[in-house]
Amino acid sequence: MQKVDRLFVHCRELVTLTDGPATGPRRGAAMRQLGVIADGAVAVHDGRIVAVGTTDEITRDYEGGEELDLSGFVVMPGFVDCHTHPVFARTREAEFHMRCAGADYMAIAAAGGGILSSMQGVREADLDSLTTRTVEHLWGFLQHGITTIEAKSGYGLSLDAEKKSLEALADALGQVPIQARRTFLGAHEFPPEYRERRDDYVKLVCEEMLPALAPMADYCDVFAEPGVFDREQSARVLSAAKALGLGLRVHADEIEPMGGAELAVEHGALSCDHLGRISDAGIEALAGSDTVGVLLPGTIFFLAKPHYAPARRMIEAGCAVALATDFNPGSSHTQSMSMIHTIACTQMKMSAEEVIVASTINPAFSLRLDDEVGSLHPGKRADLCVLDLPSHQAVGYAFGGNPVVMTVKDGVPAVANVSEREPDWFGDDLEIVDPEIVDSPVDPGGEDGA
Ligand code: NIG
Ligand code: FE
Repeated sequence: MQKVDRLFVHCRELVTLTDGPATGPRRGAAMRQLGVIADGAVAVHDGRIVAVGTTDEITRDYEGGEELDLSGFVVMPGFVDCHTHPVFARTREAEFHMRCAGADYMAIAAAGGGILSSMQGVREADLDSLTTRTVEHLWGFLQHGITTIEAKSGYGLSLDAEKKSLEALADALGQVPIQARRTFLGAHEFPPEYRERRDDYVKLVCEEMLPALAPMADYCDVFAEPGVFDREQSARVLSAAKALGLGLRVHADEIEPMGGAELAVEHGALSCDHLGRISDAGIEALAGSDTVGVLLPGTIFFLAKPHYAPARRMIEAGCAVALATDFNPGSSHTQSMSMIHTIACTQMKMSAEEVIVASTINPAFSLRLDDEVGSLHPGKRADLCVLDLPSHQAVGYAFGGNPVVMTVKDGVPAVANVSEREPDWFGDDLEIVDPEIVDSPVDPGGEDGA
């Protein structure tokens, strides 16, 4: 009998993803290999997964210092959201309603709204308030079962304001139990002072911002889109970032086709994202590469555009496909991976198995964190998403609410959304990380109830 910190037992279904390899991208039929254990259990020690199996097997071999009964819930790896923009100061609901009344997203942007209105907010905010907003956004991911994110700057668009954004991100990450990789996105838009001399802004990004800010980031991204950074300007940013040792990600082929996927593959990017207008050549290039195609159907839905990325063709061609929220104040104001699953199933015809793989191991690979997260192979971080669903087949099916009842980060329950439940649903042993911040109705136990 081995002693471990904690056992999670009696999961109605434990979705381990251990039917496939622990690391590397899953393509084609491998995107449908999960590994599902009925009445499953997980043994956790020092924040890592020690073993998964049936509750009988695990309780025979392991004794937990604490045991959490997850009867009735589906448990899977914490979601990995590999495309987010959480560093912003203000929301943009006025613009949302302008679009609903018929205005076009790119036309709003060209008139100084859109990304530039977020830029105004970030430039005006002081570091503390930007950090506070970012902290709130990070907790929002955890509340939706997301335990690892990629987080971009990109609403500063000057050396100082991009630096402030990356500082706010670093400070916020120190306050919230979520794992992240940071992306410098100075090439998100042309700021007003450079709109008439765009090449000078590209030069500023490549020659001043990137060298100064590369130590604060893991990756560099660029919004490669007609009317924003053209192919040649995007290529310059990507080459400069690569020379500084940053991994590359590309906003590619979102609204108009521009060969963005091909550009990303040529530069050996870790991911190319959006892809509503990916070409056949782009699909072929992606399929023959390790660049992950990150689909952001929340954006197409929220902008009410007709062209969802061709997920079926991409999966059948052998592309490694991931899904992400694209959480941002303009084009996709959601942190609900479950909602993304619904849109991916209904609009892009992905299966339940595929959306699970696309929001766990494949995005983890795009962040090169697949040796740590994205599946429940022993040795990986004990990051779990606990869902109030009848089976894993219900991902995407149950829509509009938040099916996540608990998020576990590094073996510790970080968030419990159980307002509809008995307050002691998870037993007296539950200690959530910071009940003050989480504002959870769960009784965390202990004499003083704190
Ligand atoms: O991924 N496309 C560019 N960037 C973001 C949206 C930015 C915004 O509208 O604030 C995106 O959709
Ligand atoms: Fe984006």
